[in-house]
Amino acid sequence: MVYQWYPGHMTKARRMMEEDVKAVDLVIELLDARVPIASKNPDIDRIAGNKQRLIILNKADLSDDIENKKWCAYYEKQGFTVLLINAKQSGIGSRVLNAATKACREKIERDQKRGIVNRPIRAMVVGIPNVGKSTFINALAGKACAQTGNKPGVTKGKQWIRLNKGLELLDTPGILWPRFENQEVGLHLAFIGSINDEILDEQELAFELIKFMKEKYPSKLNDRYGITLSEDAFEDMKNIAIKRGCLLKQSEPDTRKASKLILDDFRSGKLGNITIEPMIS
Ligand code: G4P
Repeated sequence: MVYQWYPGHMTKARRMMEEDVKAVDLVIELLDARVPIASKNPDIDRIAGNKQRLIILNKADLSDDIENKKWCAYYEKQGFTVLLINAKQSGIGSRVLNAATKACREKIERDQKRGIVNRPIRAMVVGIPNVGKSTFINALAGKACAQTGNKPGVTKGKQWIRLNKGLELLDTPGILWPRFENQEVGLHLAFIGSINDEILDEQELAFELIKFMKEKYPSKLNDRYGITLSEDAFEDMKNIAIKRGCLLKQSEPDTRKASKLILDDFRSGKLGNITIEPMIS
């Protein structure tokens, strides 16, 4: 498969982000916990410069618990503060505040020594498309905020969302472009739906997903579709089509329809909690 996906407006987005970073203490980087490598753009390290960093592994309701723990430890070992969340769940505000405070602890202490107290941490959210940036911001904003910043029509400026206890978020997230270092990254992003299905062959994608599932989570295919796995992933796809009533005329399995169904089941969590990039230990 060949992946071509680099929207032109990303250059502009990047420039804006480089500007916005200057105004914050903390960069909150959202990753998709199912693909904690493919959803990370390493360029953020350069863009964030020496700002404090918090990595949020989002969509934990869809990823594998055992792998979640390993990936948290992995990024903590690299010196990041890490938080695992489901941005669709209510009540994440205090956990985010605690993690942000932890990430900025040294800076807060430095400020205190200089007599600066109770200054809220200013943060911005960044991440590649579809990792849940807007959901995350809305989850925090919905609960306890009032917008601060310049009044409309007075001076144009950044809009900050003030959270109750000491955290202000820039209201617009920074959008990073996915980095296609290799075909595998592209494939993993396609699995989670970050690359438009229209430019990919869904059957090929579903076939690759079945191959992965057979190796890492075979029982989940059995559980969901009630099939006995064969030697061949395409045979399994046909069996899933038959089981699910995806049939063409003359009762031939409709693998195109089944492919859509399998991808939807994976993306919505109906196939179970799955991490596409398990930690290699
Ligand atoms: P973005 O700003 O980074 O581009 O992502 P956005 O918040 O728009 O989220 C992309 C999709 O991911 C949305 O689904 C959103 O509901 C879903 N999502 C975000 N965080 C989580 C999470 O922690 N768990 C799960 N299961 N889903 C999450 P959508 O289908 O595109 O929209 P909607 O119909 O849910 O609104």
